[in-house]
Amino acid sequence: MSKWTRTSWRNFNIKQQPTYNDINKLNEVEKELNNFPPLVFAGEVRKLKEELSKVNRGEAFLLQGGDCAESFSEFNADNIRDMFKVMMQMAVVLTFAGGCPIVKVGRLAGQFAKPRSSDFEEFNGVSLPSYRGDIINDNDFTESSRIPDPDRMVKAYNQSSATMNLLRAFARGGLADLHKVHKWNLDFIKDGSLGEKYQNLADKITETLDFMEACGITSVNTPTINETTLYTSHEALLMNYEEALTREDSLTGGWYDCSAHMLWIGDRTRDVNDAHVEFLRGVKNPIGIKAGPTMTPENLLELIEKVNPENEEGRLNIIVRMGAQKIEEEFPKLLRAVKAAGKNVIWSIDPMHGNTIKTSNNYKTRDFEEVLREVKGFFKVHKEEGTFPGGVHLEMTGQDVTECIGGSGDITEKDLEARYHTHCDPRLNADQALELAFLIAESLKEARNNHREDR
Ligand code: PEP
Ligand code: CO
Repeated sequence: MSKWTRTSWRNFNIKQQPTYNDINKLNEVEKELNNFPPLVFAGEVRKLKEELSKVNRGEAFLLQGGDCAESFSEFNADNIRDMFKVMMQMAVVLTFAGGCPIVKVGRLAGQFAKPRSSDFEEFNGVSLPSYRGDIINDNDFTESSRIPDPDRMVKAYNQSSATMNLLRAFARGGLADLHKVHKWNLDFIKDGSLGEKYQNLADKITETLDFMEACGITSVNTPTINETTLYTSHEALLMNYEEALTREDSLTGGWYDCSAHMLWIGDRTRDVNDAHVEFLRGVKNPIGIKAGPTMTPENLLELIEKVNPENEEGRLNIIVRMGAQKIEEEFPKLLRAVKAAGKNVIWSIDPMHGNTIKTSNNYKTRDFEEVLREVKGFFKVHKEEGTFPGGVHLEMTGQDVTECIGGSGDITEKDLEARYHTHCDPRLNADQALELAFLIAESLKEARNNHREDR
C-alpha cells in the first residue's frame, strides 16, 4: 500500500465533493483552519476507542444520534440542550435495561456536509446545483445560494466549537447529574403513557441513588454519578475540512482527525479504492463505515483489511442500514463473513437511511414502525448468529418536530407539514426517540443476558 499522509487522499478518485470556483480563497481558508485549535484532543479520542472496545466485547452499548444535517439557522443553545437531554434520557433507559455502560456519541458539532443522490435539483422546471449542507452552500433555491463558498467551512468550525463548548459544560457542569434525571424530561413528553413510563424509571433511579448514598457511594467519590461524556461524530465527507483539522499528536506521533472524536464513511463514498477510505485509514480515530444493501461480503472484508489492518478492538464500527425489508436477508451474509474471518468490528444499526419514503403530499418521511422493524431484525439476526448487537445510529432531535410518521403520538402524513424543520432527512422527534429507546431496551436486555450466558 502506498504511504499515507494527511494529503494522500488527493491522489485518489473522489465522489460527492463541491467544485469551488475560487481556488485561492479555498487555499486561504484551508490554511486558516489548519491554524485553528483542534476541536477534540487525541487523548479523548483514545478514551472513546477504549470505551468502544468494550462494545466490541459485548460489555457496553453504543448510542449514536443527532441531526441528519446541522444548520446555521437552527443553531441555538436550547436545541443543543434538548438534544443533550434526550440522549441522556435514552442512555438511562438503555443502561437500566442492559445493565451496561452506554457510550454516547452525538451526530453533532460538525455534522454539516451531505452526500446527494443527484448533483442537480429540479423545482418548477428550474434546475440548480444540489444543496450539499451548510458547510458548502445554502439551501435556498436560488442560483447564488447554491455556489459553494469556502468561508462556510470557517463558520461551520466556529459553530462546532461553540457547540462543543456547551456540550462539555453540560456534561461536566451539572446537567448530566443523575439526581436530575427527572429534569431531563422535556415538557412535551411529560403527558401520556411514555411520560409516565419515564417518570417511573426516574423514580427508581432516584431511589437507588438514595440507597447508594446511604452506603457511602456519592458523587464525591464516584464522579460518574454527576458527570458524563458525550462524544462527537460526523460523516467525514468534505475532505478539505477534514484534512485541515487533522493533526499529529505530540504524545504518540499518531495522526488524529481532530474535527470530531469519531468519523464515518457514508454509503456513497465507501469504495475501497477511493479518497475517503484512503484518508480515514490513516487517522487513529474510531471509524464508522455505512453498509447498505449494495455492500457485498467481499467489499466489506477488503474495507476492514484496509481500515483496520491490526484488527484492533474499538477501531471499526459497521453501521448497517439495509432497510426493514432487507435486513434479515442481507445482513447475515455480512455478519457471517466477518465472523468467519475473525475480524473485530462493532455492529450497529442505522434504521433510518434504508427506510426513507415519499408521501403523496411530497414529504420525505420514515415510518416509526419500519424503523423499529429494522432494529428488531438486526437484534434477531445477532441472536441467531450468537453475536452482539453493539449499537444504534439514529437521526433524531430534542425538538417536538413532525418529520417521521407513527409512534405513540401517532403522527400522520397530514401532520407532517405542521413542524417539518429538517434541512435534510426526517428525524425522530424527542418523543419517538425516547419511545424507541424503551423498545430497544427490551431487546438489549435479552442480548446482554444471552451474551453473559455464552461466556
Ligand atoms: C447519513 O447518515 O446522513 C447518510 C447520508 O447516510 P448514508 O451514507 O448511510 O446514506
Ligand atoms: Co441522513
